[in-house]
Amino acid sequence: MAKSLNKNRLNLPFIINLSNQKGGVGKSTLAYNIADGFRSLGFRVKLIDMDIQNSCMGLNSLRDKAFGDIEKVTDEARLVEIINDSSLDEFEVLVIDTGGFDLALSRLAMVGADINLTPVSDKVTELLGLVQKYSKILHEIESDGRNSVLSYTLLNRVHPLATQFEHIEEIVKQSSQMRMMKSVIRERSIYDKSLIHGESVFEAKELKGHKSAKDEILSLCYELIEKNER
Ligand SMILES: Nc1ncnc2c1ncn2[C@@H]1O[C@H](COP(=O)(O)OP(=O)(O)OP(=O)(O)O)[C@@H](O)[C@H]1O
Ligand SMILES: [Mg+2]
Repeated sequence: MAKSLNKNRLNLPFIINLSNQKGGVGKSTLAYNIADGFRSLGFRVKLIDMDIQNSCMGLNSLRDKAFGDIEKVTDEARLVEIINDSSLDEFEVLVIDTGGFDLALSRLAMVGADINLTPVSDKVTELLGLVQKYSKILHEIESDGRNSVLSYTLLNRVHPLATQFEHIEEIVKQSSQMRMMKSVIRERSIYDKSLIHGESVFEAKELKGHKSAKDEILSLCYELIEKNER
């Protein structure tokens, strides 16, 4: 690994929540792969599946050897318990996969997380969902008197050759509670193909696109680590 990591400089445990009320934007795919990205960097990771479709739990069940650090959470009390009682013995990085619905449980995860990632493609309907619905959810959470919540938009499923995203940055800037991640995750068949066996892109060494996908998930993990250090 080219970059060296000094865990002492990090605010651990580090809680990363993936949320977007819109379905199918890549929350589960990314949560599963980000979790494995942090494992590969030597972190103790716990992945929480809050999606009623049980995506991460289901993917884990497809594996020859299941990950032991994935938990299904369906109620607010358990989520609060995990976040408040988090000890470094249990995990250093917590990745939460929320479902594609606007639920009280999802909002609680947004408030409790150190960083909220909102995957979205560069397609206009998904961007509209971000501006018209997701930004309202952020605003409502703030108006409810709870802590201010920021969200980092993460471009996902973007064409492998696309380079111009300024128009999306302009859209994101419309909300004072939204920011852009620099990392971009591209549309790659390896994400789906690896998940068929419950594998992350780090494991699917035989599949085309392995190195590119691994590098982009790792860049994302490093960008998250940089934000944690600040
Ligand atoms: N970067 C990518 N490249 C190619 N396919 C992707 C990528 N990201 C996600 N997908 C595919 O898109 C589909 C939807 O992804 P996923 O289930 O992760 O979305 P989701 O936001 O968790 O959906 P839901 O809201 O229903 O929980 C899956 O088939 C997944 O493999
Ligand atoms: Mg999902």
